[in-house]
Amino acid sequence: MPIFNAQEASEYDSQITRLVPGYELLHSTTAAQLAVTLKDNAHILVVGAGTGKEIAELATINSTWQFTAQDTSSDMLDIAKQRFIDLSITDRVTIHHGSPCEIKQQADAALCLLVMHFVADNGDKKDLLSAIATQLKSQGKLFIADLMRPETSYEQDAQLVLCQKFGLSEAAADRMKHNFEHEFYPLDRIRFADLLDECGFNAAKLYFKTLGFSGYVSQKR
Ligand SMILES: C[S@@+](CC[C@H](N)C(=O)[O-])C[C@H]1O[C@@H](n2cnc3c(N)ncnc32)[C@H](O)[C@@H]1O
Repeated sequence: MPIFNAQEASEYDSQITRLVPGYELLHSTTAAQLAVTLKDNAHILVVGAGTGKEIAELATINSTWQFTAQDTSSDMLDIAKQRFIDLSITDRVTIHHGSPCEIKQQADAALCLLVMHFVADNGDKKDLLSAIATQLKSQGKLFIADLMRPETSYEQDAQLVLCQKFGLSEAAADRMKHNFEHEFYPLDRIRFADLLDECGFNAAKLYFKTLGFSGYVSQKR
């Protein structure tokens, strides 16, 4: 899987909108649902917070919300930290480098956007989802988006065409094609539903889809 250090981290913000068709819409549709479901003083856990883009958007919606930005890449979190300084929101964000299980504060909602597809389904996906469930209050919502296993034989080729239309170079598209095979661990819908259930979440509802990328919301039981 990509390790999101140094060069990958510094290029992330300029590349991600070319790699994930609808990236900004995914964030906005997630944020809109939080806007209408969370109250003042809510605490939001962002798993795989990366360069802090989710938190930057969410912080503008409600000035009383607090955040935990968790990630396994310190280089991504360094960029996030600078973003939070620039936005003057450092007092509202706790940065956590490491596993989500080490986080103390229980969250009212959790986000895990474009993260779990990098985690192998050998017990690691289950560990990640279970850790998120432990950090979430009962009835708290998890918003999770991933590259899913293709449902047609042409879906991934179409995705590459779309990414190139959004500015991805041919070389980067070739790399992405290779990555589809070797760097992602996509789930089909049935396995995803089973894992959520095993980890204490209700059946997920689909709220976002562009070809292989799907966003779901699920509530902790
Ligand atoms: C594609 S980026 C997504 C970042 C952000 N969520 C966004 O939507 O822009 C994936 C992020 O997940 C992080 N990551 C990968 N495996 C992780 C894990 N097991 N736990 C937490 N973060 C992880 C990476 O370091 C990276 O920052």
